[in-house]
Formats: sequence, structure tokens, C-alpha cells
Amino acid sequence: MKIANRMSKVPDYIFAELESIENNLISQGEDIINLGIGDPDIPTPEFLVQKMVQYVEEKDNYNYSPYAGIDEFNMAVADYYKKNFDVQLDYKKEVITLIGSKEGIAHLFLSVTDIGDYVIIPNPSYPVYEAAAEISGCSVYKMSLAEKNNYIPKLENIYEDVAKRAKLLIVNYPNNPTGALANDEFYKKLVEFGKKNNIIIVNDSAYINICNNKNQRLSLLQFDKEKGHCIEFGTLSKSYNMSGWRIGYAAGCSEVIERLLLLKGNFDSGQFIPIQKTGAYALTHGDAFIDYINKIYKKRREIIEDALLKKNIHIYNSNGTFYIWFKVPSGYKSYEFSQLMLKKSGIMITPGTAFGDLGEGYCRISLTASDERIKSAAQRIIEMDF
Ligand SMILES: Cc1ncc(COP(=O)(O)O)c(C=O)c1O
Repeated sequence: MKIANRMSKVPDYIFAELESIENNLISQGEDIINLGIGDPDIPTPEFLVQKMVQYVEEKDNYNYSPYAGIDEFNMAVADYYKKNFDVQLDYKKEVITLIGSKEGIAHLFLSVTDIGDYVIIPNPSYPVYEAAAEISGCSVYKMSLAEKNNYIPKLENIYEDVAKRAKLLIVNYPNNPTGALANDEFYKKLVEFGKKNNIIIVNDSAYINICNNKNQRLSLLQFDKEKGHCIEFGTLSKSYNMSGWRIGYAAGCSEVIERLLLLKGNFDSGQFIPIQKTGAYALTHGDAFIDYINKIYKKRREIIEDALLKKNIHIYNSNGTFYIWFKVPSGYKSYEFSQLMLKKSGIMITPGTAFGDLGEGYCRISLTASDERIKSAAQRIIEMDF
């Protein structure tokens, strides 16, 4: 069969691969604790489920959605930005509804780049950026993230000719996989860098509400008052435990939003209206739930970190996301150590190399398993010899 070369460099999605390893072990009767993928274990809160039921029962919510999403959802996103970050957004031009942020991020690459353009992505990072860049036919330039710099890239290290030729630069704070947060100084520099080089600057803020201290939350859009070249992606997957519902948004520069909408209008027909309405309700009524889950993740973090420290494992001191990013014991490679944990202790974790070669030497633990499973995992770590 004649088939596209475009896909030849795209690897299998790492989490699909891990899922199949896990299912295989479970089918052999193993008791596996999955701390691999970051998918919240606590169900969507009941007040949102009830709203969904109500909206599904309403007779006029069955049609196709407007392509940009319903006003109610986009207004709720704008209100969220005003309330939390004092950022003013025109919900008609500067916000778009997404079928989860993953599709929006991937489609953005396709909608604002041409074949051969440079895009700048972090290393390590969420694998979708590189895959989307490859599928779009872009040349990928990777910015190194290092623990000694708190996983903030050094923009001055980006080659000038790359910066001149790049169309898009993406960062992700709070950061997956490391848990690092951005700061004011970095965001100011980043916005300036984009302006100087005429590059679209993107922050993937999937974990913006998952943090130890609410006051540390920052949005990229706070630093681009002109909204000239920055956009931010967000999702309800992690903040309101709605990962399977598939609802997210992009907000910021209207020109970029318009390009994304043009592409999406040709590719998809929006999300089911009751899901968007429930999403709007979550954004406007979900603060207490966010506080509740953050308290739970904090406790779980303490339990796992205590166990890792007992084994003399170095943990990156992060303040965001529900991930723990730690150094594998000396003598091990990331993948090798993750496999050892799986085979000896039945704990599935993600090797740092799943996020790029600079993840070598680290692994990521997700705190999205029940408190009971987290306690068992801690005990298994303590008892493991390596
Ligand atoms: C950094 C990052 N961005 C985006 C997403 C996608 O989230 P969703 O498509 O559920 O909105 C994830 C999911 O794990 C993520 O880790």
C-alpha cells in the first residue's frame, strides 16, 4: 500500500504502549499499581454529573455546536481569566472551545506553520508537541530544560537563525513531567523574545490549578497585555477530573485563535453542547473542588516522597502538577529502573525518556491513584531492593 511518509517519524504514543504492558501483566494475575499516566482517579464531582444529566435531558441541546464553542463556555473561560489573573478576554474573538486541549495543541501546529518551518519545543516535554510538529512537517528545535535551572529554558541559548525562522515556541507550566513552575521574570523574557522574533508563544497550562499554593499560579497571558502573539491552552481534565469528557480551551491572540478555528471548522464539529455547558458550570462553580483535590495530592505526595527519601532517592522539589520527578539510583537508566519497579514491586511509572532524551536519569510518578493504592505503593518502594 502507498502510505504517507509524514507519519514515519511519529513514534507510538508512549502511554498507549505503557497501557498495553500493564494490561498484559494484569491478565497474568499481577497486582499492578498504575502511577504511570496522569489521569485523575477521583471521579468527576457529583454536582457536575448532575448538571450534565440536566443538560442532556433538555430537548434543545442535541445539535451540532457552533464551531468556536458555545458562548456560555467561552464566556466562562473569559470570566475565569478575569477572576484569577486579571486578564481581560473578548470571549467572541480571543477564546475557542476545544475537544480536550490535546487536539487543540496538535491542530495549532498544523494551522500556523508551513512545511519546513522551525518550531521550538522543550526537552523533556509532553510528547504531543514533537509528534504534532513532525506530522506538520516542521523542523524541531529543542530547548533544554535542566534541574539546575529549575526546568526554565535559557532563551539566550536558542540560535539566532533558528529564532528568526521559527513560527512557534511552546512551553508548559506548571510543567509535565517535572512539576516546575514558571516565574514572572521568565514569562516577561519569553513574551519579549516572541515579539522580537515574531514568533507565536504558547503556554500549555493543563496543570494551572494543580499546585501547592494557589498564589503561585501564573498565566502567560498576564504578561502579554497587547495579546499580540501569545496564546494559552487549558483543560478541564485535571482541574475538575473531567479527562474523559474531552473539554478544553485556547485563549489569547485573536489572529492565532482565528487560524485554529479555521482549521478546526474543517476538521471537527465541536463538542457535545451539554459537555460544554457542564464545563462552563465547572469553571464558574468549581473552586472548592480544586481546593479539595489539591489537599489530597499534597497528602499523597508526602507519602510517596517519604518512601523515596527513605531509599535515598533525590526528588526534584516541585510545587506544581500531581507528578513527582525523581532521579533514578546511580547505575540505572530511566527505562531500566521503571521496568525494575514494575517487575519487582508491581508499580508502573513513566521513564523520563518518554518525554525526550533529556529526561534520561529521571522517572515520573503520577499521584492519580487512590490513597490506599498510594500507601501500598509507598510500602512496596520501601521494601524494594535495588
Ligand atoms: C502537559 C499536558 N498538556 C495537555 C494535556 C492534554 O489534556 P486534555 O487533552 O485532556 O485536555 C495533558 C494530558 O495529560 C498534559 O499532560
